[in-house]
Amino acid sequence: MKENKFEFEYEVYNDSSELNEQDAWLLNEARTVTGNAYAPYSNFHVGAVAMLENGEVVAGTNQENASYPVGICAERVLLGTVATMHPKVPVKSIAISYNSDDVKSDHPISPCGMCRQALLEYETRTSKPIRLILSGQEGKVFIIKTASFLLPFAFTKDELI
Ligand code: THU
Repeated sequence: MKENKFEFEYEVYNDSSELNEQDAWLLNEARTVTGNAYAPYSNFHVGAVAMLENGEVVAGTNQENASYPVGICAERVLLGTVATMHPKVPVKSIAISYNSDDVKSDHPISPCGMCRQALLEYETRTSKPIRLILSGQEGKVFIIKTASFLLPFAFTKDELI
């Protein structure tokens, strides 16, 4: 028997003033675009903004539905739009933030399990890592080098060939 360990490193910043200019700008866009979320059921407004390798910027927000499972997270709205508007262009970074009427937006959130799977698929299809910049409206910022760190033991296309 052999014990294996999975661990990864990520960057922690005290607040967005410690980020480089481009990351700070992208995070600010994500914080702002939370205002376009449609989240009347959870009151949890999520914004995700991607910087593509060609310099284009694309945003997504969560879009809920009276039939709850129909709702879509900001990250998957974003990836669908990127793939449609800029096919084959790799995503360099995605900033994700949130705003809520009910809870304080003072710490980073990270993508749900379904979005982690979707992010991984995007990395695979473009053969490029996606950097994640995670933060609330204020407070600490986490930067994760590749979305794949968030999904160890992932199910990928390699199993299907
Ligand atoms: N949500 C996102 O859009 N992204 C996340 O990373 C976590 C959760 C949305 C789904 C739902 O509309 C609301 O936040 C509450 O779960």
